Amino acid sequence: MPDTITITDDRTGKTVTVPIEGGVFPSSALRELDPTLYCYDPAFLSTASTRSSITYLDGANGVLRYGGYPIEQLAEKSSYLEVAYLLLNGELPTSAELAQWEHEVTHHTFIHENMRKRFVDGFHYDAHPMGMFVSAIAALGTFYNDAKEIEDPESRQIQIRRLIAKSPTIAAMCYKFSVGLPFNQPSNDLSYAANFLNMMWKIGDYEVDPVLERAMDVLFILHADHEQNCGTTAMRVIGSSHADPYSSAAGAASALYGPLHGGANEAVVRMLTSIGTIDNVHPFIESVKAGEERLMGFGHRVYKNFDPRATIIKQTAYDVFEVTGKNPLLDIALKLEEEALSDSYFVDRQLYPNVDFYSGLIYQAMQFPTSMFTVLFAIPRMSGWLAHWQELLNDPAQKISRPRQWYDGPDERDYVPIVDR
Ligand code: CMC
Repeated sequence: MPDTITITDDRTGKTVTVPIEGGVFPSSALRELDPTLYCYDPAFLSTASTRSSITYLDGANGVLRYGGYPIEQLAEKSSYLEVAYLLLNGELPTSAELAQWEHEVTHHTFIHENMRKRFVDGFHYDAHPMGMFVSAIAALGTFYNDAKEIEDPESRQIQIRRLIAKSPTIAAMCYKFSVGLPFNQPSNDLSYAANFLNMMWKIGDYEVDPVLERAMDVLFILHADHEQNCGTTAMRVIGSSHADPYSSAAGAASALYGPLHGGANEAVVRMLTSIGTIDNVHPFIESVKAGEERLMGFGHRVYKNFDPRATIIKQTAYDVFEVTGKNPLLDIALKLEEEALSDSYFVDRQLYPNVDFYSGLIYQAMQFPTSMFTVLFAIPRMSGWLAHWQELLNDPAQKISRPRQWYDGPDERDYVPIVDR
C-alpha cells in the first residue's frame, strides 16, 4: 500500500498526490491544488503545526515519552532538572553536564529586589497568585535588556536558565504576598524542589521532608512538557513573532490559567468539596450525564485511554498521604473514578482520569491553597515551553503564525449615517 494521499479538486478535476510521513501529509498539497483553498480546522483538531522531537504522545495507548524516554522511567529514576536538560538538549546529561546545569540554575534563583518591593507589593491584597505569576513573568523580562536578543544563541541560553531558575522564586513570592508573610530568599544548598518548598513554608525550624521533596520533584517531571497543548501553542505563536521569551512565557502561562487546561486541578478540588460525601457521588454522576455538570479531571483532547501521568500521580498521592495523613477527599475521588469508569456515558466517550484528577489532592495534602495549584503546574511547564520556543527558533520551516479564516460576515454594503439606522 503506497504511503501517499491523492486529493482531487472536483471543481477543476486537478489532482495532487503527496507523501504521508508519520501519519502526516503536508498542507502544501492544498496550495498546489489551489492557493486560495484552506482547510477549516477549529481548535486544530487535525492540524500538525510543527515537526517536533521533544515529546511523543500516543493518546490511544496512553503513552508519553520525553526525548524517547518513557515518562514512567523518568518519574521513577530522574530528577526535574535532569528532565529539563533532556527537553532542552534532546539528550540526558552526563554527570558533569548535570552538575554544571544544576549549578547554573541554582545560582540564578534570586530576583531583583524591585520585583518584590515595587512590582509584587503593588498587587491588591487578594490578587490570585496565578494572575500575579503571569504578570511577574512578563515583568521579569523588563529587568533584562538582553532578553530581546533572541537571535543570539548564548543570550537564549541565559534567558532559559533565568526563567527556569526564577519561576519557583516568583511563585513562592506571589504566595507569600497573598498571605501577608515575609518572603524567604532562595537557598543555594537545596535541590530545585526542596528550595521551592523551603521558600513556601520555612518558618522557624522548618525542614523539607524528603518524601514531600521527591513527590514535588515527580510532579514537576510529570508536568514538564506535553507537546502542542494550549499553553505551548500559545508560547510558539507568540514566540513566532520574535517576542522575547518572558513575554511569550507569560502568554503561555495565561493559556494555562484557564479551567479547561491547567486550572482543572483547582476545579477538581472545588468539585470534590462540593460533592462533600460518598453518598452524593451517584447523584453527581447523574447530573454530569444530564449535561448539568462537567466531571473535572476527566477527559482529554489527546488521551482516549488512561493518562499515564494520572497513574503515576495516584501512586505519588499515597506516598504523600503517608506523611501528611490521608486527604479526606480521596475517598470521594476514588468512588467517582470507580463509578465513571463503569458507566457507559464515560466509557463510550473514552473519558478517563487525567493528570489533574489526583494532583490537586496531593497539593492540598501538602498545604498548598487551591489558588496555587495552577502555579504549581506552571513552574515545571516553563522548561517545556522554553524547549518548544528554542525548537521553533531553530526550525527553518517556521514563520510568524498566521492562520486563515473562513469569512461568513456580510458582503460589501454602504455605510449608513447614524441618524438613518
Ligand atoms: N465531563 C463530562 N463530559 C465530558 C467531559 C467531562 N470532563 N469531557 C468531555 N466530555 C464529553 C463532552 O460533553 C462531549 O460529549 P458529547 O459528544 O455528548 O457532546 C464528549 O465528551 C467529547 O468532549 P469534547 O468537549 O469534544 O472533548 P475535548 O477534546 O474538546 O475536550 C477537555 C477535552 C479536556 C477540555 C474536556 O475533556 C474537559 O473539559 N475535561 C474537564 C477539564 C479537565 O479536566 N481539563 C484538564 C485536561 S488535562 C490537563 C491539561 O493537559 O491541560
